[in-house]
Amino acid sequence: MYAVGASVVRVRLAPAGDGAVSVVVADGTGVSVASADALVTRPVGEGEFAAAAGVGESLYRVEWVPASPAAGLEVGVQGCALVGEDDFGLTEVLGAEGFADFDEVGECVPDVVVVCACSVGDRGVVSGVSAAVDRVLRLVQGWLAEERFAGSRLVVVTRGAVAVEAGEDVRDLAAAPVWGLVRSAQAEHPGRLVLLDVDDAGASLDALREAVPTGEPQVAVRRGEVLVPRLTQGAASGVLVPVAEGQPWRLEPSRERTLEGLTLATAGDAARELGEFEVRVAVRAAGLNFRDVLVSLGMYPDHRALMGSEGAGVVVATGPGVESYAVGDRVMGLWTGGFGPLAVADHRTLTRIPDGWSFAEAASVPVVFVTALYALRELAGVRPGESLLVHSAAGGVGMAAVQLARVFGLRVFATASPGKWDVLRGLGIDGAHLASSRSLEFEQRIRSVSGGRGVDVVLDSLAGEYVDASLRLLGEGGRFIEMGKADVRSADEVAAAHPGVTYRAFDLMEAGPERIGEMLTEIVGLFEQGALQRLPTRVWDVRRAGEAYRFMREARHVGKLVLSVPAALDPEGVVLVTGAGACWAVWWLGIWWPSVGCVTCCWSADVARRVSACRSSRRS
Ligand SMILES: NC(=O)c1ccc[n+]([C@@H]2O[C@H](COP(=O)([O-])OP(=O)(O)OC[C@H]3O[C@@H](n4cnc5c(N)ncnc54)[C@H](OP(=O)(O)O)[C@@H]3O)[C@@H](O)[C@H]2O)c1
Repeated sequence: MYAVGASVVRVRLAPAGDGAVSVVVADGTGVSVASADALVTRPVGEGEFAAAAGVGESLYRVEWVPASPAAGLEVGVQGCALVGEDDFGLTEVLGAEGFADFDEVGECVPDVVVVCACSVGDRGVVSGVSAAVDRVLRLVQGWLAEERFAGSRLVVVTRGAVAVEAGEDVRDLAAAPVWGLVRSAQAEHPGRLVLLDVDDAGASLDALREAVPTGEPQVAVRRGEVLVPRLTQGAASGVLVPVAEGQPWRLEPSRERTLEGLTLATAGDAARELGEFEVRVAVRAAGLNFRDVLVSLGMYPDHRALMGSEGAGVVVATGPGVESYAVGDRVMGLWTGGFGPLAVADHRTLTRIPDGWSFAEAASVPVVFVTALYALRELAGVRPGESLLVHSAAGGVGMAAVQLARVFGLRVFATASPGKWDVLRGLGIDGAHLASSRSLEFEQRIRSVSGGRGVDVVLDSLAGEYVDASLRLLGEGGRFIEMGKADVRSADEVAAAHPGVTYRAFDLMEAGPERIGEMLTEIVGLFEQGALQRLPTRVWDVRRAGEAYRFMREARHVGKLVLSVPAALDPEGVVLVTGAGACWAVWWLGIWWPSVGCVTCCWSADVARRVSACRSSRRS
């Protein structure tokens, strides 16, 4: 190194034999800053990082864990005031006195003063952010400026402004930056400010009395449980790594058939020679279905079934007889073994991804919408004016069926866990047409709302007495469409017990590739006309699939769960690294030089791969 202090540099890399490059660094005026005769790079496999995650691991991540007395709970709050709008209905649950502003609180300040921070009205996110942050900034400045508040804590309450659980979304984006703002203020004024985020569950409001006096600077309440952030060791823990590097892989169940044993196994067949009508797709996102959970647990009837039956990606090769797609086309559709970077698909079960859709959005559509269309129109033959009962209507197929039912002019009854009813109300189903999917009370409710008539069609995936109760709601000409696998019955026996009722259990694949492709194209057309809306979707990296599987097994989701698949780097490609992040790239190049301001570097994907590997480990 020859000089320090430059704010702009030029870097020249030149081949120096045996895979090495020479490095010459000069400042903006051409004066030498640093040089290296030869810089040799060595590939670092992801497996090496995983292997390093153990004893002495220096990587950490934040986890939200239940607050316990051992975590330092203080009990009792000597008085509580709420200042400003009570957006979340806190005055009553906290037993707080309400005040319009800090002036009104007066000189006798309670231990805890609460303010609510949330999106206001139907502003867009950008103006919503400004409004929320400006307001909280003024409140915090006012709070810290006055001596009378010195012995009290200001609690800033948000709802859905942070994600504290795997797969959780930040629902109030406009309020999310409030957390950043207040955390900065907390760093400068320890003990004066508390951040508290609550979800929609009724039990969470009740738990606020415990959450406020924890003495913790950041608290979240989820489903009535008080959580606090803690650093835990091992950033790589729980992250799956392909068993063999440089080969196609896919997510597969373990021999023990537990979610903990999910593995990224080698998938040589994904690179096999393509047969007639086949295309190879570089998968970028794949929809998770309940079927995948059953396969992973060894509970699916076909023990050879592969997980990953739908997704979205880019065509990378075409087989004989494929004329409608070319390499580079963005496609979505059905295939098997799709939880990995490559999948082989029958091109007839695909369609093009509409402009403006992300891969994750595209992957959330095929199975649920095509299944619902097939069940309602092809199997049940629904007619306008008929009535339909959709069970588990907040699930993927259920939400798709409710939307299609509107397109077909049906009257819809729906069941779901009561905690998911808001989602169905959002789809236009009123309280009279809603019932619980976890109680048999739906039979009586639907009978009374329908004036004793019941319904014309049932779309079912439940089992046992839920099926019996649903069958009793059907009369002459009624159709019972069973898509679940847990309780498939004999159509003849059902007809004998329920005269005039048709029972039909199905598997979508029976429709055949042409019909599936036609229905998928029709569905995309309905989206483009605005007749359908994409479902709420949560996305996990496929390397964290276990978390997504557990989320689905526990039925905590509404809409779709999607696994994103990391894009394979094109070895012929060029990677552009820009901005402040390039500092670490230059550091990595072996130039130990902290004063780099902003550098733009271009070099081969092979080098970039090593850089991105370095970025994921501070140790390296
Ligand atoms: N036959 C076919 O070709 C075909 C195609 C696609 C899907 N399916 C089947 O159709 C059903 C629905 O599919 P989907 O994609 O809509 O699934 P999903 O998104 O996972 O929704 C399933 C819903 O079932 C409810 N549920 C009731 N009891 C449950 C339990 N013990 N464990 C987990 N969830 C439970 C949950 O809703 P609540 O909490 O509201 O009760 C859950 O949201 C599944 O059984 C799936 O295998 C069949």
